[in-house]
Amino acid sequence: MIAPSLLSADFLHLESELEWINRSQAEWLHLDVMDGVFVPNISFGFPVLKQIAKVCEKPIDVHMMIVEPQKFIPEVKALGTYMMNVQYEACMTHLHRVVNQIHEAGMKAGVTLNPSTPICVLEDIIQDLDMVLLMGVNPGFGGQKFIPHTLEKTRALRKMIQQKECHALIEIDGGVNMDNAKMLYEGGADILVVGNAIFGAENPAEACARFCAL
Ligand code: DX5
Ligand code: ZN
Repeated sequence: MIAPSLLSADFLHLESELEWINRSQAEWLHLDVMDGVFVPNISFGFPVLKQIAKVCEKPIDVHMMIVEPQKFIPEVKALGTYMMNVQYEACMTHLHRVVNQIHEAGMKAGVTLNPSTPICVLEDIIQDLDMVLLMGVNPGFGGQKFIPHTLEKTRALRKMIQQKECHALIEIDGGVNMDNAKMLYEGGADILVVGNAIFGAENPAEACARFCAL
């Protein structure tokens, strides 16, 4: 499954970007929220997200790269969000409570791990998660180079999920391209977030179709 990341889209023409995304085979739309604190960058906020959500026909996968993401659960829910991802590093102290709050709001709950965060920190929460998002780059920017160790991490996470007989999906975000996508699926990934490799292409809709056909 593919989730195009709107971060690399043409922000002057979001409507036409969403038109082709709606028509595409992409499974979800991935939306990156940044605060300039948890990550050294700022993307878009709720006024923009609301407009995007209005026209988006795909399930929305929101990736909160912010401190205290639990403060915004109602706003994320109001977008009609399907999956809300919070960064483990931003709310690890009461992660179990945050995951419950996301569920109580009626959304699927995902937890994102930065490249340097080991998967073992999820051992006692994995059974409650709908998804684990493994970062393939340090979060904050599109178009970065994939960190190869992410592949090993994907395999180990797949093993953990199987051993614990959990249902969590594995999503990979950052640096995904046509050269590593197949390996990641073979390593156990269910859904790949793709930004630059789609929106940086001459024809993004065609590039997306190539990823979806893998
Ligand atoms: C990075 C974001 C990603 C980003 C991926 O911090 O979380 O979703 O858009 O972009 P690419 O595919 O260009 O690495
Ligand atoms: Zn993301």
